[in-house]
Amino acid sequence: MPAFPPIRLGVNVDHVATVRNARGGGHPDPVAAAKIAIEAGADGITAHLREDRRHIRDDDMARLKAEIGKPLNFEMAATDEMVATAIRIGPHAACLVPERRAEVTTEGGLDVAGQRRTLAPAVARLDAAGIRVSLFIDAEPHQIEAAADVHAPVIEIHTGAWCNALADGDQARSATEWKRIRAGAELARRAGLEVHAGHGLNYQTAEAIAALPEIVELNIGHFLVGEAIFAGLGAAVRRMRAAMDRGRAGRTTESGNAR
Ligand code: PXP
Repeated sequence: MPAFPPIRLGVNVDHVATVRNARGGGHPDPVAAAKIAIEAGADGITAHLREDRRHIRDDDMARLKAEIGKPLNFEMAATDEMVATAIRIGPHAACLVPERRAEVTTEGGLDVAGQRRTLAPAVARLDAAGIRVSLFIDAEPHQIEAAADVHAPVIEIHTGAWCNALADGDQARSATEWKRIRAGAELARRAGLEVHAGHGLNYQTAEAIAALPEIVELNIGHFLVGEAIFAGLGAAVRRMRAAMDRGRAGRTTESGNAR
């Protein structure tokens, strides 16, 4: 028996859609990427349907739900439109995040304490539809207590500030952020909440976070999509080189169909 509960990996495929959308068309397909992630050991897939649809689109969400055969975590702002969309698609889980149009990514957690009146009904509507709701928050005691107050069953701790401090080589700030995450995870468990974590994680930070027994799920996206370039670019170039060499050697018809 393991001493700790198992820890799940949710792979966020938003940035596969970012690359696709840079050119329009359908390649690379975030649903195809989700299937590869699952094949490789992901326990679920996360995708953020932003108000501006800058990466994931409505039909991506519908296809993810229909095709991945694993839990889909629908990241979203707590607006009436998104709540209705999530209920229509019916994912396993919904993670409510703050969303500002001009931001590059989700900067900081939700202010649950300051927005109880808007968040509580969104949590209740999603919950009534059988969707497990998590609130993406900084590991602050008053936010954790507010999450329990609005009856969210799950929180996701924002790890971005800790990851940034480590990347900056700021030891004092990273130590403070780490303590905040640990204490927050412990407090949340004591409050009966399930605890997830995510944002900015890489191999090293995911390994460190996975050592905290209170945390049972990590959601990771940008780093994995970036790493996929390094892990996969060589193979793609080799395949392109071979395709061109076949064409040059006259083993391809003029219409492009291989003989
Ligand atoms: N969890 C939440 C709630 C997020 O908003 C994001 C970013 O979309 C992630 C996890 C994944 O963060 P990253 O892409 O930096 O791994």
